[in-house]
Amino acid sequence: MEATYNYKVVRQFALMTVVWGIVGMLVGVFIAAQLIWPDMTYGIPWLSYGRLRPLHTNAVIFAFGGSALFATSYYVVQRTCHVRLFSDGLAAFTFWGWQLIILLAAITLPLGYTTSKEYAELEWPIDILIAVVWVAYAIVFFGTIAKRRTPHIYVANWFFGAFIITIALLHIVNNIEIPVGPMKSYSAYAGVQDAMIQWWYGHNAVGFFLTAGFLGMMYYFVPKQAQRPVYSYRLSVVHFWALIFTYMWAGPHHLHYTALPDWAQSLGMLFSLILLAPSWGGMINGIMTLSGAWHKLRTDPILKFLITSLSFYGMSTFEGPMMSIKTVNALSHYTDWTIGHVHSGALGWVAMVSIGSLYYLIPRLFGRTEMYSTRLITVHFWVATIGVVLYIAAMWIAGVMQGLMWRDFNVDGTLKYSFAEVVKAMYPYYMIRLLGGVLFFVGMLIMAYNVVKTIAGQKAVDAPIPAPAHA
Ligand code: HEM
Ligand code: HEM
Repeated sequence: MEATYNYKVVRQFALMTVVWGIVGMLVGVFIAAQLIWPDMTYGIPWLSYGRLRPLHTNAVIFAFGGSALFATSYYVVQRTCHVRLFSDGLAAFTFWGWQLIILLAAITLPLGYTTSKEYAELEWPIDILIAVVWVAYAIVFFGTIAKRRTPHIYVANWFFGAFIITIALLHIVNNIEIPVGPMKSYSAYAGVQDAMIQWWYGHNAVGFFLTAGFLGMMYYFVPKQAQRPVYSYRLSVVHFWALIFTYMWAGPHHLHYTALPDWAQSLGMLFSLILLAPSWGGMINGIMTLSGAWHKLRTDPILKFLITSLSFYGMSTFEGPMMSIKTVNALSHYTDWTIGHVHSGALGWVAMVSIGSLYYLIPRLFGRTEMYSTRLITVHFWVATIGVVLYIAAMWIAGVMQGLMWRDFNVDGTLKYSFAEVVKAMYPYYMIRLLGGVLFFVGMLIMAYNVVKTIAGQKAVDAPIPAPAHA
């Protein structure tokens, strides 16, 4: 029998990306509505904002983003190494294990089980399961690299590899905890050390889960879709080392004006400012890959998704360093400005680069060269782009307004606005954010329809592995 790539696990993760995208964003829309109508769930505890918010973040980051990363990394590592995955059994284990973790998160978070560490809320038994699945993922990925039939390791794999190793390290160190019951534990760290470890984790979760892995996606799917080589391979190597070295030090910008020593805060700010350079180096490398093929942007909606995602990446990695400057952070921290920044990265960059990559990937996993409808991809692109712009513009205005209202004083030194007055001023912007969110969510539904129509009646197809050139 002809040797083929393992596309089965790629198909499974790719389809679940669409499913979890819809679920996670629906919860996002729901909590956006709760911020406007706080009583809409009649005080039912498991539908309360405090429980659904971590459900949203876990669903979009780890279920949607995670499935997209598994799907694309498994595809890219096979295609660029010219070998089948290291182990089909272990790959299947990572798929079912990851889905089980998501299911457990979807049950335990609404029930109120939480470690209260942001983005690391899941309790210790689930943490152990995550570590086991992640190690299996590392074995499959690096095992495949080890048995590759190509002389070099394509740069996309460097980014995926760094993402896998770093997430293992972050997850294990941040979740060292003392279990005191089947679903209750206490962090092994205390006080400001706990905060520093948490935000070393939190920031690098942004840097490696929400950035490095998706840069791996960029380095494969942008050149493929544009049918052009990467703009500069040398820049991509400099980009890689500069990015992973710098990210590690920037975490303290989440703890400005706290009990963390001042020098550590300043160090975090300095490294955040430096981070602008590798981030923009990567963005430029991605966008310039289109040199000589700019005209394709006019007609190809998949390229529109990919290139627009890079523009949002550039925007959020300009905004982030600005927000890390202490005096700017004094205004932005605790406000919706942060939420706007998060979603220009999360929707504009992470979701859009994943969507673009999936539109390239899905037809090829089912023996087709194109999605069912290119027109629907174009509609999705515009609905999603308008959605992100409404979301982040509303949050910028709301955030800066909040910050300025909080620090406004009367001549006698008393506060000019009560907290409730500031909340009231937010309503119009929360409505606009909800509208933006609904649009982005509708885009996902359009995508789901297009995917169903693309694969309906098609057989799953595993591409053959090319014979070695010297055979
Ligand atoms: C339809 C799309 C979405 C909507 C309507 C939405 C809505 C929301 C809302 C209302 C919040 C809480 C804000 C607050 O507490 O003030 C939130 C938080 C968050 N969302 Fe989304 N979201 C969406 C998509 C996404 C996606 C795709 C991602 C990631 C890939 C994401 C990542 C996050 C993160 C990380 C937070 C926490 C931010 C923080 O603590 O600073 N969201 N989202
Ligand atoms: C050069 C790159 C970046 C820098 C220097 C940076 C910097 C910052 C700063 C200063 C904050 C506010 C911290 C606070 O006041 O609490 C922040 C929050 C955040 N950023 Fe970024 N950012 C960058 C890129 C990104 C990207 C690309 C994403 C998403 C894909 C992202 C996701 C987030 C999230 C989720 C938070 C909220 C964390 C929380 O409080 O829950 N950032 N970032």
